Amino acid sequence: MTHNDNPTGEAPGATAHHADPFDSDRRETEPNMIESEERFRLMADSAPVLIWITGPNRDYLWFNRMWLDFTGRALDDELGSGWISGVHRDDLPACINAHAAAFRSRHPFTVEYRLRSRDGHFHHMLAHGTPRISPLGRFLGYIGTCIDISERKKMEDALQHSREMLRHLVSHQERVREDERKRIARELHDDLGQNLLALRIDVAMLHERTRVHPRLNERVSLALSHIDSTMKAVRAAINNLRPTVLDLGLNAAIDWQVKDFQRRSGISCELTMEDDIVLDDDRATALFRILQESLNNVLRHAQANRVRIALTTAGEKLYMQVADNGIGIFPDSRRKANSFGLVGIEERIIALGGELDIQSNASNGTALTVSIPLDAGCRPASF
Ligand SMILES: Nc1ncnc2c1ncn2[C@@H]1O[C@H](COP(=O)(O)OP(=O)(O)O)[C@@H](O)[C@H]1O
Ligand SMILES: [Mg+2]
Repeated sequence: MTHNDNPTGEAPGATAHHADPFDSDRRETEPNMIESEERFRLMADSAPVLIWITGPNRDYLWFNRMWLDFTGRALDDELGSGWISGVHRDDLPACINAHAAAFRSRHPFTVEYRLRSRDGHFHHMLAHGTPRISPLGRFLGYIGTCIDISERKKMEDALQHSREMLRHLVSHQERVREDERKRIARELHDDLGQNLLALRIDVAMLHERTRVHPRLNERVSLALSHIDSTMKAVRAAINNLRPTVLDLGLNAAIDWQVKDFQRRSGISCELTMEDDIVLDDDRATALFRILQESLNNVLRHAQANRVRIALTTAGEKLYMQVADNGIGIFPDSRRKANSFGLVGIEERIIALGGELDIQSNASNGTALTVSIPLDAGCRPASF
């Protein structure tokens, strides 16, 4: 069969049961193109990558040797849309949609799908198609490659898994830490606090009764003031461990913390929040600790003289924003090697099903916003 008497325009050597992948329109073909096509096939067949060619209407016209070796199927079985039977069922809709969109737009396209190999296992493939345009500008279909990215996928999955484990670990550790703090605070209060109180009552009585012995009375008075300052220190330690105000609800706890911060730092604070937000203890404590870390960051890093704190609900979410008018976060500072404040906030909030957003620049300062979903355990009481 010669080129001229071939009504389908098939290239020499092409089998009669499928169309020639390269054209198509033989009138546009330069005489030496057929030779270069043959050279291309030879090269493509020995290339260590899966190669395919389609016609203008989504029919696959040709696959290289590597493809056929990979799938273990005959060329005839793969042609047209036969190859699709090797695509994993779950990936089929996305794969078909990507093809349909590409053939409409005629732009290069990329799609990932799992393809069954000859041993029956599915491999993750990254397919990339480039439009074939004839010398006269006619769209002839696509030529493309598939790269086996299973190893990369495996590594991505492992990374994802380890991130999730890390997140669980962080939230578990936080819970353990909070429980421990609560327990120590309770012990300090119940044992040390109560004993100190009893001691104080006795020493106060002693103080009364030793008035007739001025020097002894003076010593007792000194002991009394030592007991008082020890009680104060114990109360402060209890409060540091777990602010008792947390037991009065989130609103009271946030209000207390903001006032305390303003008093300690001298930075002017503006607090707005919806009334009577009811949260389960885990979430309330998390928000409280996140505010604590954010305000500490403002004090340590921002050089701000004003900070706005807002708690609002919108949709099914509760938002807490801490916005300062400081110098902003320098690029790359967020992920300093030994800084775990912001990372901790992010992990903690993601573990609660929420999100963290940080907007920062040198002229407006930093606005840190966390959101957590409002669900049955977490919503304003008025809902
Ligand atoms: N409000 C802020 N204003 C300016 N810089 C900030 C602010 N918050 C955080 N940063 C920057 O981000 C870095 C990381 O913060 P963080 O993770 O809390 O760690 P740490 O406070 O221990 O350094 C800080 O070292 C600081 O450079
Ligand atoms: Mg910090």
